[in-house]
Amino acid sequence: MVAAMSVKKVDQFIFLWFLAIYAPAATFCANVTYDHRALIIDGNRRVLISGSIHYPRSTPEMWPDLIQRSKDGGVDVIETYVFWNLHEPIRGQYNFEGRGDLVKFVKEVAAAGLYVHLRIGPYVCAEWNYGGFPIWLHFIPGIKFRTDNEPFKAEMKRFTAKIVNMMKQESLYASQGGPIILSQIENEYGDVDWAYGPAAKPYIKWAASMATSLDTGVPWVMCMQADAPNPIIDTCNGFYCDQFTPNSNAKPKIWTEGYNGWFLYYGGAVPYRPVEDLAFAVARFYQLGGTFMNYYMYHGGTNFGRTTGGPFVATSYDYDAPLDEYGIIRQPKWGHLKDLHDSIKLCEEALIATDPAVTSLDPNIEVAVYKTDNVCAAFLANINTTIDVTVNFSSNSYRLPAWSVSILPDCKNVVFNTAKINSASTVSIFRTESLKQEVGSLENDSLGWSWISEPIGISKNDSFSKFGLLEQINTTADRSDYFWYSLSINLEDDDDSGSQTVLHIESLGHALYAFINGKLAGGGTGNNTNATVNVDIPVTLVTGKNTIDLLSLTVGLQNFGAFFDTWGAGITGPVTLKGLKNGSTIDLSSQQWTYQVGLLGEDLGLSSGNAGKWNSQSTLPKNQSLTWYKTNFVAPSGNDPVAIDFTGMGKGEAWVNGQSIGRYWPTYVSPNSGCTNSCDYRGYYYQSKCLRNCGKPSQTLYHVPRSWLKSDNNTLVLFEESGGDPTKISFATKQIGSVCSYISESHPPPLDLWNSDTESGRKAGPVLSLDCPYPNQVISSIKFASFGTPYGTCGNFNHGSCSSNSALYIVQKACIGSSSCNINVSVNTFGDPCKGVTKSLAVEASCM
Ligand code: GAL
Repeated sequence: MVAAMSVKKVDQFIFLWFLAIYAPAATFCANVTYDHRALIIDGNRRVLISGSIHYPRSTPEMWPDLIQRSKDGGVDVIETYVFWNLHEPIRGQYNFEGRGDLVKFVKEVAAAGLYVHLRIGPYVCAEWNYGGFPIWLHFIPGIKFRTDNEPFKAEMKRFTAKIVNMMKQESLYASQGGPIILSQIENEYGDVDWAYGPAAKPYIKWAASMATSLDTGVPWVMCMQADAPNPIIDTCNGFYCDQFTPNSNAKPKIWTEGYNGWFLYYGGAVPYRPVEDLAFAVARFYQLGGTFMNYYMYHGGTNFGRTTGGPFVATSYDYDAPLDEYGIIRQPKWGHLKDLHDSIKLCEEALIATDPAVTSLDPNIEVAVYKTDNVCAAFLANINTTIDVTVNFSSNSYRLPAWSVSILPDCKNVVFNTAKINSASTVSIFRTESLKQEVGSLENDSLGWSWISEPIGISKNDSFSKFGLLEQINTTADRSDYFWYSLSINLEDDDDSGSQTVLHIESLGHALYAFINGKLAGGGTGNNTNATVNVDIPVTLVTGKNTIDLLSLTVGLQNFGAFFDTWGAGITGPVTLKGLKNGSTIDLSSQQWTYQVGLLGEDLGLSSGNAGKWNSQSTLPKNQSLTWYKTNFVAPSGNDPVAIDFTGMGKGEAWVNGQSIGRYWPTYVSPNSGCTNSCDYRGYYYQSKCLRNCGKPSQTLYHVPRSWLKSDNNTLVLFEESGGDPTKISFATKQIGSVCSYISESHPPPLDLWNSDTESGRKAGPVLSLDCPYPNQVISSIKFASFGTPYGTCGNFNHGSCSSNSALYIVQKACIGSSSCNINVSVNTFGDPCKGVTKSLAVEASCM
């Protein structure tokens, strides 16, 4: 080809080639400001959809897919907190490696063409250990957190500036050509400021001017801070934010945390939020003047290691998010929200042009119209929680289901209704594989397991003695979950030897085990709303020396509430022995106790699997407290996400190839009541409205990121506290079971027809679409198809009283053997099995 070119052309070609290879990637500095309507990027007001992904809650290997799937779902901005205690575990020693590689994460978002909202905090709450504060902060003399306190402000400023400068050095602010268009300082201080008295206001003023002085070139926000000083934008967090107004008419209406579910804690059932209600909340926000909302969380992920806060926050941070814990698209949530986002974007021109004209047709019907000479978009809302209504608007009539919003990008045709899901749903299943079958050749004895017993009581030479009972966090500085309190008492003959007495223990939390003379005698645990533990444990003492070893443990440090940093943990007493033979009670609280921070196995580095003398010759101990277990295993084949099912174990922590997959606790069971599988989406949502899994363990499956696994010779190490049977552990891989869809004749046509051939596209009828989720898959069978009045949910559909005879055959013909299929939901396709009734098509299919 080059041979045929003229010399001039060859020169041009070489020049262009040189440019392509060596010129730095073109960067376009964007000017980000705001006004009353919206964020303004390079002179244009923008309607933006944002989604939270917290980078340490997944692995760098997962980031590109998570970000791309967010983008495909119609997300423009990725929001993340910055986690101070992850980045500065020791004062002045920074860590930005691996899951902490913030720069890499921000660059990945930029590479996908999305923006970033960087919420530096540095207090973040977030169900993260200690709300993100490094524990060393607590030990700075004279420090008081989150108030007008010089030592605190100095540290907060130092870290905030460190992050800002890091971003600047990498040119990551939009003002430098990077993706960051927004930053946050502090977090929901307005919820607790009353408790900090007169020092609260100056602190917030200081935080605002400190942030502004860092000169990022992009706006700052404070969430839930009604008095956020100019130019900081005050923003809303909540399940709904449509009624929110910022504190100045010069600021846009921004929603920083729209909860698409809620977090799980040990002892709780699994929360979920129906997407019809979430879509309603989001549509209402844009209907009433909002232009920026963020899903908290778009991908929740996993609290690896000891990163959970709470206390008692579970290791899974799935959050019922559009991308599930493993990063897989959750349907129909992801798809319905994508349709919503696309519909809102069809209105963007009108939304940024003007304020909405809002009228109430009756107290439950609210119509908002964004209209200029050139454009018109309308949102029609029915906020009644039970009654569907017909609304007349601009000489047309519209049927609005209860608790729903219809979006009309041309003020005439409905492109989307929040209660009518056009997107297909998928049902995921976990396929279990026994770990035993997968065990490699290395550990052949004891069913492939080897073990080490952790000594009961004091075993390390850094133990120390003190009179009285010590608070735990002040002593351990959170170096470990574990803290031993140890004591010996002597009983004379005629004392109480052999008699039944009761050991009474009071602890600030979060859980404890009591060992008497080297044997586990009992224990107790607090819960998510009350971390304290008060237990009465019957014990048998002997004549002579008795040892009392109390193991106290934290389950994630408190992350929210006024002065949460000072709440404390551990056995602060009283500790007594009640009901001795002579009826007396001994108070042990002020005796001389011996203390040990952490476990011997932790100091030896057993979690890597490389250190320590592991036993494998004699019988494997089962249901034995304080035991380290180790095995080697072959990874489950394929690419499906992997979890370990800890059913059979008690409580502890697990490491795969030296990486902590988090605390496991399959024995903490949720209450029997309060759950429903078919939660009514209508009416205001609250965090305990829709729960699943009552009476079952809060979490049995624990994510093992694929990138932490090799194909074989992987090491799994567990530290089991209370006792379990490791041979019961199994793998579970997450797979798609069925793909379902339920479309009614009243649904709007598919959104992508909107721009096709304008009028006919907008007037087309509803279509049922099925898509196999993975490439190379085809629809292999139709498990259910009914046109008429079918009912039920995916996996449990039933025929109603009206049902066309030909539905199954028609759907089979249209779909089997294809990777996707579309069927018009109309009597023209299926005939009319019941005239005058609005009919629906329900299909359940399998992909292979
Ligand atoms: C908010 C907080 C978030 C997170 C959320 C609950 O109040 O700002 O960080 O903790 O609650 O998931």
